[in-house]
Amino acid sequence: MFNLGILTISDKGWQGQRYDKSGKVIKDSPFVLDNRVVKYEVVPDEVDIIASKLSQWADEGDVDIILTTGGTGLGPRDVTPEATLSIVDKVVPGFGEVMRAGTLKVTPLAILSRAVAGVRGKCLIINLPGSPKAVRECLEVILPVIPHAIEIIKGEVTEHTLPDTERD
Ligand code: MTE
Repeated sequence: MFNLGILTISDKGWQGQRYDKSGKVIKDSPFVLDNRVVKYEVVPDEVDIIASKLSQWADEGDVDIILTTGGTGLGPRDVTPEATLSIVDKVVPGFGEVMRAGTLKVTPLAILSRAVAGVRGKCLIINLPGSPKAVRECLEVILPVIPHAIEIIKGEVTEHTLPDTERD
């Protein structure tokens, strides 16, 4: 069982002008239901606020994984990838790559998300795009890999203890 943080990044959500449907989609996803949400917050699209919230949650040591939603696009206020990259120790390009390539067959709009992922300390941080539909589509392609990724980060597996599906 893993501990999760969900950080919704939205000016309108933070101002109380929009219900956080995307955060709800994450909370209702199969992986999250099997685990524990220990942190949840809505913050505005401000690079310093996002970066300090992510680093604070990761450094407190209570969360194994933080899923963010929103602020990954091309708009003037979209700064989630910049905030994430400013605080991670290691970048994990595969998550962003597979979210874009793996959902491209559903919509060419997938190209427009600049979502990134990385590791800070023992915490995996993954950006998801902001719309509930995009969250659903992207979670579907990355969820199968997340438990193994967290176990590696926590030092609980070695390269010789792969998931059952990957064994020779
Ligand atoms: N990815 C998938 N799979 N499905 C989508 O509908 N929407 C795109 C993109 N990624 C989308 C997607 C759109 S329209 C935008 S603008 C970007 O994500 C960035 O969204 P964000 O700024 O809300 O994070």
